[in-house]
Amino acid sequence: MWSIRMRASKNRAKRGSMHISGAETICTEQQLKQIAQQYIKRALSHSRGNPDEVVITVERITKKPLDIPLLNTRTAKCSSPDKARQLITEFLLGAGVSARAVNAGLKVLYSKKHMRGACIMLSVSGRRAEPDRMRGVRVSRFGMTDSAEKIMTAIPGIKKSNIRTVTEAITLASKTAHHADILAEVCISDDPDYTTGYAASKQSGYLRIPCIKQHGDMRGGRVIFVRQDADITAVVDYLEKRPVIVSAKKVRR
Ligand code: COA
Ligand code: AMP
Repeated sequence: MWSIRMRASKNRAKRGSMHISGAETICTEQQLKQIAQQYIKRALSHSRGNPDEVVITVERITKKPLDIPLLNTRTAKCSSPDKARQLITEFLLGAGVSARAVNAGLKVLYSKKHMRGACIMLSVSGRRAEPDRMRGVRVSRFGMTDSAEKIMTAIPGIKKSNIRTVTEAITLASKTAHHADILAEVCISDDPDYTTGYAASKQSGYLRIPCIKQHGDMRGGRVIFVRQDADITAVVDYLEKRPVIVSAKKVRR
């Protein structure tokens, strides 16, 4: 199996180049060429702008990918960012995150400071635990089986044009939620045209939250809440490096 990853950015020659888009999956050697072509096409037509650099990385996976379940999906009724904050708060409290950590998490999520990955937050104290606060931690090395992808196309209420975005986000969220030290995750996309965020956990599944931000806003954010006594090095290693394939079996709680 192979990990194939794409990242597109602009202003390569200037300091602080801007990230446009990224995508990845795990596939067979036969699929590599077709996926690389699709990724290049996507990189060149993104609402965040036109890139001047597209990097495709193709890496052989030496460790057998972990087979993990796809989270169940539902969509909340939400018509404003204020209501979204309320829904996120309820979701996180229900996942065992303290009120203090919920408030700290919301601050990071809606902050004007742009991170390149997710904040890792301790679920009782609300202390940030990611090794680098600007970089954050990027969940990587994941893919989805064909049967799980089929389920995604049948979920009601998702516009056809958004199915790919939702599928990729659920794959990432399923990997994140699977770790025993992770209680929940919340995300706002940095795509200005995509205003549906999510909250996810192994217990409650993947809750899509429409109107989590205003249309046209380029800012996104992601916070992963971990147990207070989590082994942070092991969590980060799992999120960044452990290959996983998400399949359509039921989540064991
Ligand atoms: N924002 C800003 N910069 C980013 C970025 C992001 N989201 N992702 C990558 N970069 C830039 C950074 O400069 C980074 O350097 P850093 O490690 O110092 O931050 C550099 O690219 C290399 O990143 P890296 O993750 O090592 O590259 P990669 O080619 O192995 O993987 C991605 C790139 C984008 C595919 C991967 O990081 C990722 O995000 N995968 C998940 C994509 C996905 O499916 N998202 C679901 C949408 S919800
Ligand atoms: P995106 O889901 O790509 O729209 O990104 C939304 C936010 O999540 C970004 O602003 C980053 O802070 C963060 N982020 C981007 N990629 C990743 C990733 N692979 N893993 C964790 N966080 C990410």
